[in-house]
Formats: sequence, structure tokens, C-alpha cells
Amino acid sequence: MAAPMLEIAGARVRYGDTEILHGVDVHVAAGELLAVLGANGCGKSTLLRAAAGLIGDEGEVSGEIRVDGRPRGRLDVALVFQKIHLVPRLTVLDNVCAGALGRLPLLRSLLPVQFPKAVREEAMGCLDRVGLADRAHDVAGSLSGGQQQRVAIARALCQRARVLLADEPVSALDPAAAEQVLGLLAELAHTEHLAVLAVLHQPDLAARHADRVVGLRSGEVVLDGDPAQPVDLLYPDSVLEVTP
Ligand SMILES: Nc1ncnc2c1ncn2[C@@H]1O[C@H](COP(=O)(O)OP(=O)(O)O)[C@@H](O)[C@H]1O
Ligand SMILES: [Mg+2]
Repeated sequence: MAAPMLEIAGARVRYGDTEILHGVDVHVAAGELLAVLGANGCGKSTLLRAAAGLIGDEGEVSGEIRVDGRPRGRLDVALVFQKIHLVPRLTVLDNVCAGALGRLPLLRSLLPVQFPKAVREEAMGCLDRVGLADRAHDVAGSLSGGQQQRVAIARALCQRARVLLADEPVSALDPAAAEQVLGLLAELAHTEHLAVLAVLHQPDLAARHADRVVGLRSGEVVLDGDPAQPVDLLYPDSVLEVTP
């Protein structure tokens, strides 16, 4: 088997006296959408933040994060969150161009700027891949929630990362938009050979779109495999939510 594109090995995270992740191993292949499921507070976001290198001095992190066989570098992973962080008054295209800022260090403190033509062309291509090229010159704030999340995904593509980490990317969206955004993440994994790790709130969405599912319970991996398998053990004390 090919080496995984993303490899999280023995991840432990501790805040003060409390260990949140107890040595978690998760891998994601290029071309794969992995869904991470688990009850509130089990450590999903902590895992994603550890994978992205986003846990600061407040936490103690150990374990290894490797991308394509090497220790994760600054630009190796792109992030998509539940709360969509676009700049609403900038155009959709400028928001996507911002994904390239990591490799354009001189521009980083100068927003808003006219991005170089090559970057704008690349960003246009990224918007085309999420089906929103026709909205490039609208201000981002005028788009629907689902469209804004697709713009955030285009911005991640413009970062040229091989790994995409998404924390509840569809939790704020209506059901139709959620289906569309997850379908897009699966398609990008498959066609662009990205490794996509998505924390999801709804097991049924994972069953429909993910290639594989990992279940966390109290900071440990308790299942890893077929996305259609029963996942009741992850939600021991809850009545499964009914989508309104
Ligand atoms: N910065 C922090 N300091 C202390 N505890 C934290 C911090 N961040 C998260 N936690 C705790 O870690 C546990 C897991 O949180 P989280 O990873 O956000 O869970 P999930 O995303 O699965 O709902 C929770 O008990 C939460 O309170
Ligand atoms: Mg979370």
C-alpha cells in the first residue's frame, strides 16, 4: 500500500492536568475522504488542530504529524471551518487569491492588494473547480452559506496544500447545501488526489460521502473502516439528533 498522504501517529494532547487525546493514530491516503465522527467533547477538533499545528502554549502536544512521508510543513495543510472565515467585503476572487498568501510573503501585510495576474488566474481555476467562476467578481458577503463554504474550499485549493482538514464544514448549512459541499469535498479528494479529513456531526452524511470513517470516543480511536457501519457506540448517552 502507498504511504498515507497524512499520517497522525501517537497524537497526545494535554491541557493542564487533563489529557484529551490518548495516543491517536489516523492516516488519510491521497484521493481519500476520511470522516471523523464522535460525540461532543471527544476530541475531534483537538485532533484536527493538532494535525494542523494550531495548538499553542495552552496545550502540550506529542506524537508525529507527517505529510507525504515528511514532518508537516507550514503550508502542507489547508483548513476549512464550520464558521466560514471569508472577508465579506472583498470579492470572491480576492478571497480565493488569499489562499496563495503563504507563498507571497511580501504581500501578506498589504491586504487589500491587487494580486499578481498569475495568482488571479490560478484562483479563477480554483473557483471553476468548485463551480463558482461566475461569482468571482461579486463580494463574498453576498453569497449563500453553502456558496461561501465552496469559496473557502477554493481558497484552500489555491494554497496548493495536499491535505485538507475540515472541522464540521457543513454544520452551519441547510441539508441541501451540506450534501453539495460534502459531495464537492469527496470529488476533490478523488479527482485532485487530495487527502481530506472532515470532522462531521452527522453519521448519515459520512455514510453517503466518505470513503472511510474513524470514530473517536473519549480521545481514543474506537472504530476505523467502512463508512456505512453502525456508529452507535460513539454516542453512548445521547438520543441521536433528528435534523429539523
Ligand atoms: N484550549 C483548551 N483548554 C482546555 N481544554 C480544552 C481546550 N480546548 C478543548 N478543550 C477540551 O478538550 C475536550 C475536547 O474538545 P474538542 O476537541 O473541541 O471536542 P469535539 O470537537 O470533539 O467536540 C473538551 O473537553 C474541551 O473542553
Ligand atoms: Mg469540535
